[in-house]
Amino acid sequence: MKVLVIGGGGREHALVWKLRQSPRVSQVYCLPGNGGICEEATCLPGDPRSLASLLTAAHQIHPDLTVVGPELALSLGVVDEFTRRGLKIFGPTQRAAQLETSKSFAKEFMQRHQVPTAHYAVCSTEEELRKSLGLFSTPVVVKADGLAAGKGVVIAPTKEEAATAGAEMFNGKLLGTPVANVVLEEFLEGEEVSFLVLSDGERVAPLVPAQDHKRIGEGDKGANTGGMGAYSTDSLLDAGMTDWLVNHIARPVIAGMKSEGAEYRGILYCGLMMTAKGPMVLEFNCRFGDPETQAVLMRLDSDLLDAIEAAVDGRVSDGEFKWSRDASCCVVVASGGYPGSFMSGKQISGLDRADSLGNVKVFHAGTSKRDGVFYTNGGRVLGVTARAPQLSDAINRAYEAVRLISFEEMYYRKDIGARALKAQK
Ligand code: AMP
Ligand code: GLY
Repeated sequence: MKVLVIGGGGREHALVWKLRQSPRVSQVYCLPGNGGICEEATCLPGDPRSLASLLTAAHQIHPDLTVVGPELALSLGVVDEFTRRGLKIFGPTQRAAQLETSKSFAKEFMQRHQVPTAHYAVCSTEEELRKSLGLFSTPVVVKADGLAAGKGVVIAPTKEEAATAGAEMFNGKLLGTPVANVVLEEFLEGEEVSFLVLSDGERVAPLVPAQDHKRIGEGDKGANTGGMGAYSTDSLLDAGMTDWLVNHIARPVIAGMKSEGAEYRGILYCGLMMTAKGPMVLEFNCRFGDPETQAVLMRLDSDLLDAIEAAVDGRVSDGEFKWSRDASCCVVVASGGYPGSFMSGKQISGLDRADSLGNVKVFHAGTSKRDGVFYTNGGRVLGVTARAPQLSDAINRAYEAVRLISFEEMYYRKDIGARALKAQK
């Protein structure tokens, strides 16, 4: 089989790496890929944000299956377009992807289907927002409606700051483009867990849980990023809790989408806050997480192609995945300055030595390769991922590999998984 993966980050490198392990996959293409992906797949030029570009590529290579990484292509309706042309593709339709692309849709949907989530108000003007603020206590969470690449959420310590953040979302100052709606949300406290399920529109099969580290600084301080590292271990959720999440969150969402005429096939990513009152949904994503995928796929012992095909063909079963009981840890190595401005084009050394450590895989995110040399080419550069029976060993191994790598102004958090280790003790 020929498989096309859309995207070019660390998540897509992990997808390419895992799909290549399937005995039924003969060739993997990736559009546009990155320096590391191009070592393992045939990279195709093109713009993953342009449907025309994606269709042109598909017509050239005739993939038997296309797997979509980033949400933007899904929000543009890549699944609808490919399906209309008889091309097999994995991911939700444009309408189903609204669970991620519209926070107001997601919140109203959860209310309609009794899915636990924070209290909220959807506001369409500054005046409405100021009025609604009266219903909340501080801190209050202010969210821009629409895709914002992790930059659309402000946790405001005071109502005045919440009103200012909302105003800047409406007038475009905060995100570059104005938004039509701003969602206010009750602030929730607890541990965050990324709980992903595979669905064929009716049935669901859970993936192992992971925890992301969204802030740039150690101790979860500083600006929000796309994700600075993740770990996955069974102790994040016990079997009883996993069942509860399947029965009270994943299944009702999938059934609700079907009953509303927007059948959801693909990965449903539930961003959860484990509060004292029980798990609550912070957000949905309509795709694999980045960097969670790097940590999660490191633990997958069965064939990813089989699972994805089961979802596309409508035959997902409980036993879709075989997981290792090992823990895993992915440390994101970034360019200094990220998530603000940063420099690209720095030569990276030590990749071979890091990659040849046992049970380590270096996933490339923002890299390019010229004349046999890798260079940085983005904010998040690498996802250095390790697996071991104990979480502490997986973490140590990942950092051992990270320390073999160097480039000018390289930055990484030194505390990925540290809170979990502390909790274990
Ligand atoms: P979201 O894009 O909705 O996942 O929000 C990004 C991040 O903001 C989450 O990962 C949380 O860390 C934080 N966040 C979002 N909503 C809430 C909330 N209601 N209470 C506390 N933190 C939140
Ligand atoms: N790691 C968060 C995300 O993929 O949205």
